[in-house]
Amino acid sequence: MLAGKHIILGITGGIAAYKSATLIRLLVKKGAEVQVVITPSGKEFITPVTLSTLSGKPVISEFFTANTGEWHSHVDLGLWADAMVVAPATACTIGKMAHGIADNMLVTTYLSAKAPVFVAPAMDLDMMAHPSTTANLALLRSYGNIIIEPAAGELASHLIGKGRMEEPERIVEILEQFFSRRQPLAGKKMLITAGPTYERIDPVRFIGNFSTGKMGYALADAAAELGADVTVVSGPVSVTPRNASVKVVSVESARQMLEACEKVWPDSDIAVMCAAVADYAPLHPADSKIKREGHDIPTIELTKNPDIAATLGVGKRPDQTLVGFALETDNEEFNAQSKLKSKNLDMIVLNSLRNPQAGFATDTNQVTIFKADGTRADFPVKPKTELAFDIINTMID
Ligand code: CTP
Repeated sequence: MLAGKHIILGITGGIAAYKSATLIRLLVKKGAEVQVVITPSGKEFITPVTLSTLSGKPVISEFFTANTGEWHSHVDLGLWADAMVVAPATACTIGKMAHGIADNMLVTTYLSAKAPVFVAPAMDLDMMAHPSTTANLALLRSYGNIIIEPAAGELASHLIGKGRMEEPERIVEILEQFFSRRQPLAGKKMLITAGPTYERIDPVRFIGNFSTGKMGYALADAAAELGADVTVVSGPVSVTPRNASVKVVSVESARQMLEACEKVWPDSDIAVMCAAVADYAPLHPADSKIKREGHDIPTIELTKNPDIAATLGVGKRPDQTLVGFALETDNEEFNAQSKLKSKNLDMIVLNSLRNPQAGFATDTNQVTIFKADGTRADFPVKPKTELAFDIINTMID
């Protein structure tokens, strides 16, 4: 499974860095290519000579090689990798990764990495239990990173507790499992709508909603990881896909979103309508800014936007699957089931705005899924990145 895989091993300054030597040996034995990126303090714990000898590659630590001026491109490195493993990951590096504090080669590489990132924390039990560490690890999880939980045992401080870096053998096993994961969507083309739509009132104002696109982009990354060829038709958002293979078509309004979807849909096997499409748009958007002084309070006449999901549903072929979302505040289940039928969907994902951990802008969501075959599935509150896999697995089940 690991043969030929390109692995960036990020090493930080913790006692557990001694285990990195074994980790490299095991990875190389399995046929992986390992590129070590070490933080300055990591070098206090294990020497680059040991690491480069075992990996067969010069260890990268600085942005430049001092004597030649050669620049180490964290961008190229990020693209080269099939996976990045940060082991050991200290509380300091975890904090920097969580907040984008890119003051060393390891964190810049992390920010550039398009591949899945595995983080194996190693620290003293009190640091591990501190709310700051817990919050930073939650942030990394919300970015889609995989946390390899530390084990409990005797720590460098001789205290007993949780914080011991997972053994290299187990880390290799986790990587092998990851790379051997089924790709049930291989060969499938998938269209996903995401984010809000903006409907222009004038050149500076719009009607929109609070959607951030997090759920749609999490679905896109999950689907790509499961082998799908994914196109996201996205309203204005600040999120980007983590997976380099995901294509994004950016649009602004519901009409533009429909136009983009109609181009992609005939060639798609699956479409997931995750966007929060504005139902109405100003009928006569103004060409210049509507001024306040010297005018009556304007009345904005609205017109109905096209229903993108329903439009795709009308032309749906038997070999195509169409999935919708329902965001409800009242009569949730009834409304969701009605939309399932009226839009000719195969499945609908209901999220209720009554739950503060679900809905717009949160990193978590809680959903109930109804399928056209009459089955239903309820899920607990989960990070959107995890829920994305549940939604796809329910769809292909
Ligand atoms: N949808 C769409 N185009 C629209 C409105 C909704 O494609 N103009 C899709 C959404 O992406 C979602 C599903 O239809 O998958 C349901 O969206 P929702 O906003 O919950 O329902 P509406 O049909 O807009 O009905 P209402 O706002 O009255 O609840």
